Amino acid sequence: PASTPEANVQTTESAPVTQSTADFYRVGIDAAYQPFSMVGPDGKATGFDVDSMKWIAKDQGFEVEFIPIAWDGIIPALQASKIDLVYAGMTITDERKEKVNFSKPYWTVNQMVVVKEGSPITLDQVKNGSVIIGTQRGCTAAIWIDENLVNKSLMSAANLKLYDNTPLAVDDLVSGRIDAVMYDSTVMNDIIAGKPVAKIGMVETNEDFGIAVRKDDTELLEKLNAGLDKLMASPDWEALKQKYKME
Ligand code: ARG
Repeated sequence: PASTPEANVQTTESAPVTQSTADFYRVGIDAAYQPFSMVGPDGKATGFDVDSMKWIAKDQGFEVEFIPIAWDGIIPALQASKIDLVYAGMTITDERKEKVNFSKPYWTVNQMVVVKEGSPITLDQVKNGSVIIGTQRGCTAAIWIDENLVNKSLMSAANLKLYDNTPLAVDDLVSGRIDAVMYDSTVMNDIIAGKPVAKIGMVETNEDFGIAVRKDDTELLEKLNAGLDKLMASPDWEALKQKYKME
């Protein structure tokens, strides 16, 4: 690709039009995962992860293209080589480690629980499985609810509502279709800003985010770790956190 300062965004999820090379990689992101990755009306990808990726790419001497992919299909897309890495707030989990390799951790979240403003629902009720909870399909909140509530017969599977992205779940919360939404704390803070929604607490899952690559792609993983090390040690890391108001 041409070495333009702005990385390209491919906005469709159709077959890849590009192939990776040692100096060009396709980055899988989520179009609605603010402030880590989002695609604006102009079709441009922005966010903490997107800017970090551009910094690392420049430092390590390669070009990138950002490709939005539905979250629950993002590991299959990586395995099928439709993308070369996932840089989109992916929690490092043992289950995912069986399929992909992760970079060193670069961010930590817990699971924030929110309800509609004025709702009497408590965190205990949510953790008891007695309310209808919404979150994103395939995310660690959905996995937590499955493992801790549904699989323990504390909650009916029908009370877990799954969405393509969490802003859609918050819309349903505001319109009263569901009782609570659980999601990565940093992202939830951003999604609920200005909405009639109240935080009722946190489930302490202590999740580390990492960049995911295919198992056999050790060369790329080395570049990503080297770049990430340098970025996190540079003043630009603090500046990026401030730019995206990371909490
Ligand atoms: N951290 C959670 C997970 O790994 C949610 C990530 C969702 N990321 C995204 N780009 N939508 O499952």
